Amino acid sequence: MNVLILGSGGREHAFAWKISQSPKCSNLFIAPGNAGTHNIGTNVNINITDFDAIKLFVVSNNIEIVVVGPEDPLVKGITDFFNNDADLKDVCIVGPSKDGALLEGSKDFAKEFMFRHNVPTARYKTFTKEILTQGYQFLEELKPPFVLKADGLAGGKGVLIIDSLDEAKESLKDMLTGKFGQASNKVVIEEYLHGIEVSYFVLSDGKNFVLLPEAKDYKRIGVADTGLNTGGMGAVSPVPFADSEFTQKVIDRVVKPTIDGLQKDGIDYRGFIFIGLMNVDGNPLVIEYNVRMGDPETEVVLPRIKSDFLDCLYSLKDQSLNTKSFELDPRFATTVMLVSGGYPEAYEKGKEITGVEKVDQSTLVFHAGTKLVDNKVITDGGRVISITGYGDTIQDAVSKSFEAANTIQFEGKYFRNDIGKDLI
Ligand code: AMP
Ligand code: GLY
Repeated sequence: MNVLILGSGGREHAFAWKISQSPKCSNLFIAPGNAGTHNIGTNVNINITDFDAIKLFVVSNNIEIVVVGPEDPLVKGITDFFNNDADLKDVCIVGPSKDGALLEGSKDFAKEFMFRHNVPTARYKTFTKEILTQGYQFLEELKPPFVLKADGLAGGKGVLIIDSLDEAKESLKDMLTGKFGQASNKVVIEEYLHGIEVSYFVLSDGKNFVLLPEAKDYKRIGVADTGLNTGGMGAVSPVPFADSEFTQKVIDRVVKPTIDGLQKDGIDYRGFIFIGLMNVDGNPLVIEYNVRMGDPETEVVLPRIKSDFLDCLYSLKDQSLNTKSFELDPRFATTVMLVSGGYPEAYEKGKEITGVEKVDQSTLVFHAGTKLVDNKVITDGGRVISITGYGDTIQDAVSKSFEAANTIQFEGKYFRNDIGKDLI
């Protein structure tokens, strides 16, 4: 079958790599893709929120399945657009409808959903500028640090964690008066959870679900989790503390109530659910839902799936995911992100990338912000390349990632040299 993947990051390169291995994959297209996906399929220059342009491409290339990488097209309703269009309704689209995408598109909706369906999460209240003083009062009731979340999508920057009460009040006011534009017209204030974070990934066909491998990501730019937040500097799967007992709690207390809750609310959810959790004294509490796979978590999750992933994804169309088998690679996979100097603040693009061909064949090189110009691969984003190593231990896997991280060169290259260290 002909496949279209939407997106241009390391996540989409990992999807392309995995899907291209399926005997069912005929022609693979990635829009817009990057220099890495160029080697696996055909990159097409389409804006992923231009639904009419996507329709034209899908129809003229007989695309049977569309895999949506990032959240933006989902929150904007790409799945509804497909399902309501006579020419597109038979295409399998991987990703929830607009109402399901609210789990990520609105923090307030997600918190209400969790309370309605008894999914464990931090205590919270939502405020608008009309009730600012009530927001101040709620902050006074809580203990620091204070967690303030813009309701809408804010490019991963909408969560503030603040130690001082005065500063938290000031930030609440700033947010409600436009700090993140429309996204912070509403602000969720919630209790701070103390624990270790881990992410679980679920694939749902609207009736059945499978649990994919879990992962831990490293969000801060600096070693030992210091400095600014990033999109993610590395990831590890499996996560040793997420043992079978903890995972069973996640399934019983979080995953099943979430899937049941979506059904009770009449939401036809066919796609990924990324559940960000805090392990608080052995109990899972949900920090957030995302309606897509994580990046760079995908770069360790997909390499651990041995089964025909395209076949699993296509089963979302007739809700037959329960008939598919999921075989996992028991080894550890670790990924280390090479980023441009200066990221997550200002950085330069256009630096030539060399040495990729010297990387050990057993190590996976996933491109993120790269592009091909005059037959040269150059940097084209903050996060540039994600390198996934396998190993029987975390040490073995990360040493493969680090070896390749030192082999690939570009001006200003930086990576965290402590990925996985806290888990060893
Ligand atoms: P989110 O965008 O909701 O994932 O939040 C970004 C990051 O903020 C999370 O990955 C956590 O590290 C942290 N965070 C969010 N909510 C809480 C909370 N209630 N308690 C502690 N940390 C949190
Ligand atoms: N790595 C975090 C995310 O994809 O949201």
